[in-house]
Amino acid sequence: MTGRLNGKVVLLTGAGGGLGSAQARLMAKEGATLMLANLPEDPVIADGKAATSLWENAQNTAKEIREAGGNAEVVALDVTDEAQWSDAVKQTVDHFGKLDVLVNNAGIYYHAGLLDHTVDKFHQIVGVNQLGVLLGMKAAVPAMKDNGGGSIINFASIYGIAGAGVSTAYQSTKGAVRLMTKSAALEFVGDNIRINAICPGMFDTNLFESSVPKEAWGPLVDLVPMKRFGKPEEIAYGTVFLASDESSFMTGSDLVIDGGYTCP
Ligand SMILES: NC(=O)c1ccc[n+]([C@@H]2O[C@H](COP(=O)([O-])OP(=O)(O)OC[C@H]3O[C@@H](n4cnc5c(N)ncnc54)[C@H](O)[C@@H]3O)[C@@H](O)[C@H]2O)c1
Repeated sequence: MTGRLNGKVVLLTGAGGGLGSAQARLMAKEGATLMLANLPEDPVIADGKAATSLWENAQNTAKEIREAGGNAEVVALDVTDEAQWSDAVKQTVDHFGKLDVLVNNAGIYYHAGLLDHTVDKFHQIVGVNQLGVLLGMKAAVPAMKDNGGGSIINFASIYGIAGAGVSTAYQSTKGAVRLMTKSAALEFVGDNIRINAICPGMFDTNLFESSVPKEAWGPLVDLVPMKRFGKPEEIAYGTVFLASDESSFMTGSDLVIDGGYTCP
């Protein structure tokens, strides 16, 4: 244990997913105490095949961390629900004494052309990816103020930076996360609360598997200058940096981890 996050209490949403579980493991290895939050339901898989339970995955990750000598608990949280956010922050503070870091990682994807977008799907994705981040910051800030400061990490995407030519609703939410991050960073800079965004490129996780058609994968990899998808640990290292005091002069920034996708 190298301890870059020793003494830090972290609330991480979407902890059962591909990027979430990698972040949980690495933060625990670096000494963080973790409250792992996830929606207590299975994801809907587009082609009807059996879904891995991401809620169960969050519980297994917490168990694994405890068995390795770390400290992790699980809380059920639907990030679109303000009352559940208050409860998740309260449970974190009641259980671990404070809140230092919030990682707003939970997110959903909607792979569709503009003409196939529906009002319901638009509201659903805005609810999770955009409103969920806003509610998370709103719930965490008072606890962080009580604690003398903190670090909030919001998950945006390269598709909040560059156009993809598909999934316009998803892109709108990720662009919004980047600007909400900058606005909130300015609002709470005097409270010693740093707020930054991570913009992942393409990573092979449940989000990708369950929504991007397989035939689209090859052409997508070709768009990445490094000619591969990222590994979840490559996001987790970014999260550890932003959660730790190593990033003490960073707020309102985007940390882009994309194999060069946004360079051209
Ligand atoms: N995988 C990629 O290529 C990629 C690229 C760019 C950005 N991202 C972003 O990274 C984040 C993590 O993505 P991932 O690839 O690990 O996806 P994932 O599908 O593997 O995990 C997402 C997690 O969020 C949870 N979740 C969904 N709706 C929720 C809700 N309403 N309340 C609480 N939890 C909820 C899911 O149960 C799941 O555990 C997302 O914000 C995503 O948009 C991913």
